[in-house]
Amino acid sequence: MRLDPLFRVALYAAFAVLTVTGAAWLFADWHKDPSAPDQWHDIAASLLMVHGGAAMATLMLLGALIPLHVRRAWRSRRNRLTGPVMVAVNAVLIATAFGLYYAGSEALRPWISDAHTAVGLALPALLLAHVWLGRRSS
Ligand code: HEM
Ligand code: HEM
Repeated sequence: MRLDPLFRVALYAAFAVLTVTGAAWLFADWHKDPSAPDQWHDIAASLLMVHGGAAMATLMLLGALIPLHVRRAWRSRRNRLTGPVMVAVNAVLIATAFGLYYAGSEALRPWISDAHTAVGLALPALLLAHVWLGRRSS
């Protein structure tokens, strides 16, 4: 279950970039002038671009994690509470990200955005708890 150090760093870096750019986007979006384009619009757009790029790399890392980590850990019966929580949380982030791209309905979009943001902001704490409990379970 222990990850290759380089892979572990890449995974932590990807999650860190997602969290920082997501939180910074919230800040920029909150500050921007809704009536006219200003510097906050540009900053928000750049942050989402970096966020989307990091999300693509994260999808690749999560795919690699399934045979390397998830299946092995599941079979060894360790961390069977927060492990599935991690899988569920990442699935919700990916599904809501798809919704942010493609949901046409103006009624649905704010809900998808709030769900994505809330789960995203909770991710670092969940990951820390998962790693801590996983290491203790050895
Ligand atoms: C998308 C889902 C998951 C992510 C992102 C994830 C991520 C991680 C990371 C980064 C570590 C630290 C590894 C290290 O320090 O080398 C870890 C440890 C661990 N995870 Fe997961 N994990 C996921 C799913 C699961 C599942 C489903 C299980 C088991 C049912 C699991 C069981 C464990 C265990 C047992 C450890 C401790 C390994 C050790 O240090 O001996 N994980 N996880
Ligand atoms: C597997 C993890 C994640 C994936 C695949 C993902 C993907 C995406 C995608 C594709 C978008 C839409 C970008 C656009 O409209 O151009 C987005 C938006 C966003 N993401 Fe993430 N993200 C992830 C994790 C996170 C995390 C950890 C946070 C933490 C704060 C976060 C916060 C946000 C925010 C605030 C938005 C903007 C919402 C909006 O447009 O209303 N995301 N994300």
